[in-house]
Amino acid sequence: MDFAKVAEGKTKIVYDYDKEHYLLYFKDSITAGDGARKDEMPGKGVLNAQTSAFLFRILESKGIETHYVGMYDERTMIVKKLSMVPVEVVLRNIATGSIVKRLPIKEGEKFNPPIVEFFLKDDERHDPLLNYSHMEYFKLFTRKEAEQVEEVMKQVNNVLYNFFLEKGLLLYDFKLEFGRLGDKLIIGDEITLDSMRIREKDTLRILDKDLYRKGADLETVKRSYEEFFKRITS
Ligand code: C5P
Repeated sequence: MDFAKVAEGKTKIVYDYDKEHYLLYFKDSITAGDGARKDEMPGKGVLNAQTSAFLFRILESKGIETHYVGMYDERTMIVKKLSMVPVEVVLRNIATGSIVKRLPIKEGEKFNPPIVEFFLKDDERHDPLLNYSHMEYFKLFTRKEAEQVEEVMKQVNNVLYNFFLEKGLLLYDFKLEFGRLGDKLIIGDEITLDSMRIREKDTLRILDKDLYRKGADLETVKRSYEEFFKRITS
């Protein structure tokens, strides 16, 4: 890529595109357990870039602002230059994953209203849970901003939960990251099977990265990511 590299994470690279935009390049890497398992899955970058772009466009069409501007190529997104807040915001509709390990909650328990949680992006410390006081102390989100973010998470959930349900899919949980642009907080990063949990409604078959986290082979994971993209776009 003929642009200056701004940052590189486990699955994406950020390049400086122009005064107001970055390029977000989706690699073929797949990782789990804060980088403990790591593989290359050819074609994954294209699938995730396309999935994320498709879902960002849906959110934009519902008036929810994201960093998405357009595609530079099939695996590279043109995005607004945000100053990212190093917090992972998770919304849960149905209990699974870290919450059933942390709290006395049973796998599959339904949350109504959904539960929103904040985690510090810090692989070394395994992304610790944050409360409002922690976020104010670290100057991440003010309490008012955290409440705004929770509201945006719920709006996104209303849109995506219903969209997936129409495709016979259940949105268990998802993670978003936010960034600042002037005085606005905007959704950044990605929305893909790496960052949300999707189960088939009738069979509860896993379609998301939990396949990989639980040790499935790469071919199975790839087929599932392809199936998901086909289902949501047809
Ligand atoms: O592991 P946990 O249950 O807390 O994950 C909640 C949601 O956040 C899942 O959809 C997971 O894919 C996503 N997540 C993520 N990046 C992380 C941790 C969790 O996208 N580092």
